Amino acid sequence: MKLWGGRFTKETNQLVHNFNASISFDQKFYKQDIAGSIAHVTMLAKQGILTNDEKKSIVNGLEGILTDLDNGTLQIDGTHEDIHSFVEANLIERVGDAGKKLHTGRSRNDQVALDMKLYTRDEILEIKTLVKSLLSELNTIMKDHTETFMPGFTHLQKAQPITLAHHMGAYFEMFKRDYSRLTDIYTRMNYSPIGSGALAGTTYPLDRAYTAELLNFAGPTMNSMDSVADRDYLIELLSALSTIMMHLSRFCEEIIIWNSNEYQFVEIDDAYSTGSSIMPQKKNPDIAELVRGKTGRVYGALVSLLTTMKGLPLAYNKDMQEDKELTFDAIDTVKGCISLFTGMISTMKFNKSVMEASAKNGFTNATDAADYLVNHGVPFRDAHGIVGQLVLYCINKNISLDDMSIEEFKAISPVFEEDVYEAISLETCVNKRNTIGAPGKEMMKQVIAQNDAYLATLN
Ligand code: ARG
Repeated sequence: MKLWGGRFTKETNQLVHNFNASISFDQKFYKQDIAGSIAHVTMLAKQGILTNDEKKSIVNGLEGILTDLDNGTLQIDGTHEDIHSFVEANLIERVGDAGKKLHTGRSRNDQVALDMKLYTRDEILEIKTLVKSLLSELNTIMKDHTETFMPGFTHLQKAQPITLAHHMGAYFEMFKRDYSRLTDIYTRMNYSPIGSGALAGTTYPLDRAYTAELLNFAGPTMNSMDSVADRDYLIELLSALSTIMMHLSRFCEEIIIWNSNEYQFVEIDDAYSTGSSIMPQKKNPDIAELVRGKTGRVYGALVSLLTTMKGLPLAYNKDMQEDKELTFDAIDTVKGCISLFTGMISTMKFNKSVMEASAKNGFTNATDAADYLVNHGVPFRDAHGIVGQLVLYCINKNISLDDMSIEEFKAISPVFEEDVYEAISLETCVNKRNTIGAPGKEMMKQVIAQNDAYLATLN
């Protein structure tokens, strides 16, 4: 059934129909479409625009459609233009003339704006749940590894020693911001567009605030043109999802490096690795690579929608139908990536001894050796120069600072005493750093406790 055949004298060209139709993808929100329609007719009846009997038969019909679609007795017929046409046609088949009154006081423009918002709201909640599980997994790893030493890097060169807990804590902060971005977007978008009509409201005495309340919105949107033309919230969501993917992708890149034969900091579990068809020895980090790879398509969705929207005059334009496939794809991609990533890190083995050995060589304690001299009255710039000489000496002898004898230390600077070994040990280097945000064990314990308290506030 077409919703708009009346003013036409010819059939639509089949290719035009196919090109125009959205049912192949907008069927994804049939639940939300039906929920929106039920709220709309409930409001129409309250306002005396429909009788109570009409409302009852429409609501029964819609509930029947929902049940039948859910359990598979009813299949979505792809010959309809969109999910809205399909539901309305099916309703009229079920309940007759009352069904023809469903679309009173609304347009597909405000209807689709509503459906997409309802769908997006549900998905934001699901994504938040997944981010929460990831955060809680990260905090678990943190608890287990406040004493797992590893090198911290800048420029991918060993810099200063940290712990695995501290490294995981950095990602905890990133995903915590991601979570809060999702909350913000939800709050900002949570206004109902239904009742805005095609663009200019309607002449029926609709109670838009009531429909908004029935659908758990904070209230109705305040400009009917904006209501049907606004896709900002999708752009914000795609931006937040892109940021989540960027974070996951950086994390994956590190895991790929750590899992390499050269590093061997971690071993990805067999259940999360794949093999090679030709090289029997291979165990590849495909999941981490795929998450990194899929980041591109989520960014693509963001740029695509920004581009679609940039030239559109108010109010509704069919271009906006393009918001759906890419948003659905981005949401599904992100959900899949977060779940798999969480599974991968929760089963991954951290090779503590390899990490610690790596932190021990590479002069990650050079800064602490310089600080030792500073604490004994040497100006920092001179101390920097002296430790530079120590490093050069060690490189030539292929040893680390800790391996030097006290005589060797003293030959370069007489300021060094026996207590230098203690001062530049891995434990000291890490655990003396207890300012807010630093990797020292005391500070990490405080952060982990704060993380626990934060996680308990998430619903
Ligand atoms: N399938 C359309 C969309 O996704 C529904 C709105 C149709 N409105 C219209 N005036 N043709 O945007």
